[in-house]
Amino acid sequence: MSNYYIKNLEEYFQIYRKSVREPENFWEEIAEEHFVWRKRWTNVMRWDFSKPEVAWFENAKLNITENCIDRHLHIRGDKTAILFEPNDPAEKAQHISYNQLHERVCKMANVLKEKGVEKGDRVCIYLPMIPELAISVLACARIGAIHSVVFAGFSSLALATRINDCDCKMVITSDGSYRGTKTIDLKGIVDQSLETCPGIKSVLVVKRTGASIVMEKGRDQWLQPLLDKASSKNKAEIMDAEDPLFILYTSGSTGKPKGMVHSSAGYMVFTAYTFKNIFNYQEDDVYWCTADIGWITGHSYIVYGPLANGATTVMFEGIPTYPDHGRFWEVVEKHKVTQFYTAPTAIRALAKENLSFVDKYDLSSLKVLGTVGEPINEEAWHWYNNNIGKNKSPIVDTWWQTETGGIMISPIPFVTPTTPTFATLPFIGVQLALMDERGQELMGKQVEGRLCIKYPWPSMARTIWGDHKRYYDTYFSAFENMYFTGDGAKRDAVGYYRITGRVDDVIIVSGHNLGTAPIEDAINEHPAVAESAIVGFPHDVKGNALYGFVILKEIGESRKPENLRKEINQQITEHIGPIAKLDKIQFVPGLPKTRSGKIMRRILRKIASKETDNLGDISTLLNPEVVKAIIKDAL
Ligand code: WT7
Repeated sequence: MSNYYIKNLEEYFQIYRKSVREPENFWEEIAEEHFVWRKRWTNVMRWDFSKPEVAWFENAKLNITENCIDRHLHIRGDKTAILFEPNDPAEKAQHISYNQLHERVCKMANVLKEKGVEKGDRVCIYLPMIPELAISVLACARIGAIHSVVFAGFSSLALATRINDCDCKMVITSDGSYRGTKTIDLKGIVDQSLETCPGIKSVLVVKRTGASIVMEKGRDQWLQPLLDKASSKNKAEIMDAEDPLFILYTSGSTGKPKGMVHSSAGYMVFTAYTFKNIFNYQEDDVYWCTADIGWITGHSYIVYGPLANGATTVMFEGIPTYPDHGRFWEVVEKHKVTQFYTAPTAIRALAKENLSFVDKYDLSSLKVLGTVGEPINEEAWHWYNNNIGKNKSPIVDTWWQTETGGIMISPIPFVTPTTPTFATLPFIGVQLALMDERGQELMGKQVEGRLCIKYPWPSMARTIWGDHKRYYDTYFSAFENMYFTGDGAKRDAVGYYRITGRVDDVIIVSGHNLGTAPIEDAINEHPAVAESAIVGFPHDVKGNALYGFVILKEIGESRKPENLRKEINQQITEHIGPIAKLDKIQFVPGLPKTRSGKIMRRILRKIASKETDNLGDISTLLNPEVVKAIIKDAL
């Protein structure tokens, strides 16, 4: 177990240098010592970013669930693997041991097989944060089916797009979900989606809320009776290192969502190694990541990374504000949570409330705090550090993406001195570059540019499902021989990185990655709308909120603007989900455009952020006069 934990800064630099100088030797040692393989690789790594083509641990055979479950059974079979904390604090928490997880995953795997799911088939999972979600994910991995988890806050149209894009055969869902005092009719949403999804042969339904739902004969079945009949023995399918493990959709600045494809071996090695080091996980710790498994954070750092390390991972069904704003801290005290990983947006929302919601609880179990998903502002960082960490728990500000599979820039707790708002140093094996707009690498300290990655890392996405060209165009065409992240970043005098935000048309709202194009498409489908443009503007809780500039079809449109605004947001809710709703909607006579017809979002961003003093040169616009009119009525 030589180099699994990084002990001090000197060792970090030493290991980092090795991981850059001899990446293959470095990752080979990690893979050899810390995982179980059915067959060893013949070649550690092969890459060509011009295609792009990347393979890790070529020709190795494994099953990730044997690494996440089976190998723990004889050493920690009775240890809690998943600690389920329900939405309602009055409902008992469930401690699912590794033995029990093994049994439940095997049964689920057998049910999937019996329903005709085969290796390589795609299974859509649309479930709330209940144990069956993690179990379904693992059961797919066990039989070699590719899971595509869709966050259960997405609408029926968004779900249908994702089901059809990768030709899923089956959906696993529930009768409903709880969110604070609300229940949501998930099965109803699935039914609506499936009207346009001819490929779906079967739907398995978990009973959660007991709501009355419609079961379509021949297609829908309750899951529990099938599990009751299933055998608890299941031989894991032997997978190739590069076989796809899952697809997870993320929005891009244009076009439909991108189904990022992650592989088996590299993903496992990197998520497990980052988890252990970045959260300093020790055997008796109770680790809690508050994300939803519907996002990459949940895949990598609720399910795979923690379980590959034999950790206890908390799965929380509820929301931070139910029954009150102290819920997170109540759960930390109740389960003696040692690592707590959340989003800046949640911190900002809770920081607005009275400190008595925090002070009521004993948070002394906490050792490491983490943030992810968006830049954290200084104020929120200090609030988190002072009130939750009591100035003694290091905060790991972790930068990464759906595409990167695992954490790429982060302090290592107790090793890297932290600075608020800085994600600090690249993780082991991660070779960063800052590029200027002409494609030159910015060398040295105190520079700002576009954040790129120069060399493959094991958990990078391998392609976009069904569209390898788009994968190349989006990530590998901007800078030669580099992966372009879409983010801007600064490197300071000591070499620390600070993420400055997206440089493309992706907007991060409450830590969720939203592309402008799908939202605009949704708005434009409203019969009264001629054209629209969405930009982000700073918001004190969400980080960014959405501002829509909308041109209506008829001048003198008779309907009340307030009603139209509601309808437009309703339209967005139906097409994407409530997370993409606009905070502000301004009806405008036109949009600023270049002579080639491209919307000048830069100008709209400035107007939305109330920074209209310096709009830059607008004389090249096709319609400069429209800018004045928009500023006059800005909200
Ligand atoms: C984008 C990726 C990674 C899991 C959650 C989001 C932004 C992510 C940070 C951070 C500043 C961050 C970036 C990135 N982002 N983490 N620590 N500091 N920005 O995954 O939905 O794929 O979004 O989130 O802009 O590109 P995602």
